[in-house]
Amino acid sequence: MRVTIVGSGFVGQTTAMRVVEKGLAEVVLIDIVEGLPQGLALDIRESSPIEGFEPNVIGTNDYADTAGSDVVVITAGFPRQPGMSRMDLLGKNAAVVRDVVENVAPGSPSAVIVLVTNPLDEMTFLASEVSGFPKRRVVGMAGVLDSARLRYFIAEELGVSPSSVEAMTLGSHGESMVPLPRHATVGGKPLTELVDQGTLERLYQRTRDAGAEIVALLKKGSAYYAPSAAITRMVRAIARGDRDVLPACVWCEGQYGIRDVYVGVPVRLSASGVEEIVELELNEAEMGALRAAAEGIRAKCADLAKL
Ligand code: NAI
Ligand code: 2OP
Repeated sequence: MRVTIVGSGFVGQTTAMRVVEKGLAEVVLIDIVEGLPQGLALDIRESSPIEGFEPNVIGTNDYADTAGSDVVVITAGFPRQPGMSRMDLLGKNAAVVRDVVENVAPGSPSAVIVLVTNPLDEMTFLASEVSGFPKRRVVGMAGVLDSARLRYFIAEELGVSPSSVEAMTLGSHGESMVPLPRHATVGGKPLTELVDQGTLERLYQRTRDAGAEIVALLKKGSAYYAPSAAITRMVRAIARGDRDVLPACVWCEGQYGIRDVYVGVPVRLSASGVEEIVELELNEAEMGALRAAAEGIRAKCADLAKL
């Protein structure tokens, strides 16, 4: 399995390290900045004798070196700065994503594209349009990250191990994130039996604001450890086809009553992209929130055409 990671900034380089260290694939790291991906790839390779992994990573500024990739992860673009919303990045990052997809897609026509650049849902749609790839082979990463943050906050609140917490968020990567309290469990017990409504609301709001919380602390740029872990989890699902259900931004064609728009829903991934959209049983309020998120993304995608 060959994975190209476009953008060698904080998210791209950390993802390269995680994917190679786990032995999931050989990695090609690419960026427009000369020397940056080459230097980072060499640095990762030099850690291999200590960490004990195959040094399967190269850095390049030439898209010819990415040809024949099975997965293309796109992290190129500007991150948020304090006070910025993800949507403030729309115009600048649309130009970057368009440039990247036009360069990377022709050499890897069978790849699954995993979009990461913000604003995530709209950039995933743009990549699908520019690549012309079947929609099932263009997916966006957000739900695994948002769900991990929620799981961590629940674990912190209850003083339990994060791995004992199961929870999922759907919808958009932003204000219209849809948490699913009825589907969350802690050590097998329903979350709703362990915390009151006020606590739930507080944990959900912290999850919605989690990216901004880190931006405010870092003061320059945004999160990358949890994002790279989430991307690597998706790469693993694609590489191994393990049939685990992960939330991802994918093209809906009637599932959840949502049609012809990208939005975060639970899926099974494989080397062919989206194998299946899993339809959880949602109540009226959850379904309404998911559909509202989808309509918000649809409206923003329409704005892309005016740029
Ligand atoms: P960064 O600034 O550290 O890295 C971005 C890299 O993209 C830079 O090395 C830059 O040279 C490169 N780049 C810019 N234009 C390019 C082009 N045309 N072709 C190739 N490379 C190009 O930013 P960071 O922290 O790595 O974040 C990257 C993106 O990922 C941001 O848009 C950020 O908002 C987004 N992000 C999304 C997350 C999600 O959950 N979907 C989570 C974390 C970040
Ligand atoms: C995050 O949620 C910036 O979208 C990025 O950390």
